[in-house]
Amino acid sequence: MFPLNTWYAAAWDTELGRTLLPRTIGERPLVLYRTTSGEAVALADACWHRLVPLSMGELHGDDVVCGYHGLAYGPNGRCTRMPAQETLNPSAAVASYPVVERHRFVWVWLGDPAAADPDLVPDLHWNDDPQWAGDGESIVLDCDYRLVLDNLMDLTHEQFLHADSLASDELSESEPEVAHDDRSVTLTRWMRGIEAPPFLGMQLRRKDPDYEGPVDRWQVIHYTAPSTITIDVGVAPAGTGAPEGDRSAGVNGRVLNTVTPATAGTCHYFWAFTRDYHLRDQSLTTLLRQNVSHVFGQDTEMLNAQQRAIEANPGHEFYNLNIDAGGMWVRRIIDAQVAREQGRDRTPPSRLAAVASTTRETA
Ligand code: FES
Ligand SMILES: [Fe+2]
Repeated sequence: MFPLNTWYAAAWDTELGRTLLPRTIGERPLVLYRTTSGEAVALADACWHRLVPLSMGELHGDDVVCGYHGLAYGPNGRCTRMPAQETLNPSAAVASYPVVERHRFVWVWLGDPAAADPDLVPDLHWNDDPQWAGDGESIVLDCDYRLVLDNLMDLTHEQFLHADSLASDELSESEPEVAHDDRSVTLTRWMRGIEAPPFLGMQLRRKDPDYEGPVDRWQVIHYTAPSTITIDVGVAPAGTGAPEGDRSAGVNGRVLNTVTPATAGTCHYFWAFTRDYHLRDQSLTTLLRQNVSHVFGQDTEMLNAQQRAIEANPGHEFYNLNIDAGGMWVRRIIDAQVAREQGRDRTPPSRLAAVASTTRETA
């Protein structure tokens, strides 16, 4: 279950070129490519004539030519040529979807094209901001995209699933602050005077090779509906003022995550890890990407197994713990967005907030 009137990341910008890239987004098989002038295009990957995938055809200039009987379609989806006919059938077209490129991703809008406002693309500016450096990957997961959101909204799992890189006992001992409105949730957790976990301690020593000792660690998880989460993470030597706002002695990272539903049980997970120090150190960029890739490999294995277990236990209802507060907000916001799109519910956000806080108090 996913909203349609939203931008979903369909690809890294470097994935698109002068070849036909098939990709299923929101249950819709699409074919993606660039025109000769470099514009990104997303068309339905099904020929108007006999539905075969257009991605099995080839590009002629800016047109996609079907590999079966040669019908050609322009970037707007309209048929431009029918080899066996002199006149074009006026209804001959495939769907063309609004596309925008921003923050190193190609975003596609599946819903009402009139509502496809580029200003609604989620803010992932750290990915192409000259004050930041980093890189990422994309993963295809065999799970509902909402399981990835659950995973990112509750980072106490680092203590157990990522014991070799990100664990701090204080993760599950510290109480996060949770704030929300009708399309975002922010969860803030500070751990003061703790031992740095390996992944963050390593980064602090890249900046200050002599530092040994306790750190203040932070995680600020920010969700934007329906499926983008940025995480402000870092550590600073304990007592240097990070909790009060001076992080200059520490290392700042932003974990960028946007999750795109592919089918009901699969999704595309685009992530990047960016930092605001040693910007020209490419070996550090590579090292950090490899480290985070290892971490997300552990998540992938767990989430795919969770999805199999969910499918093996139909109708099972989950219990929610305190650690699930962020994820519960995410589900409420997505459910409300889908209900509004389907005209089933026009509950204003303020009422939604009241219902949710009542639920939490009595949970
Ligand atoms: S199926 Fe594409 S041209 Fe016939
Ligand atoms: Fe994880």
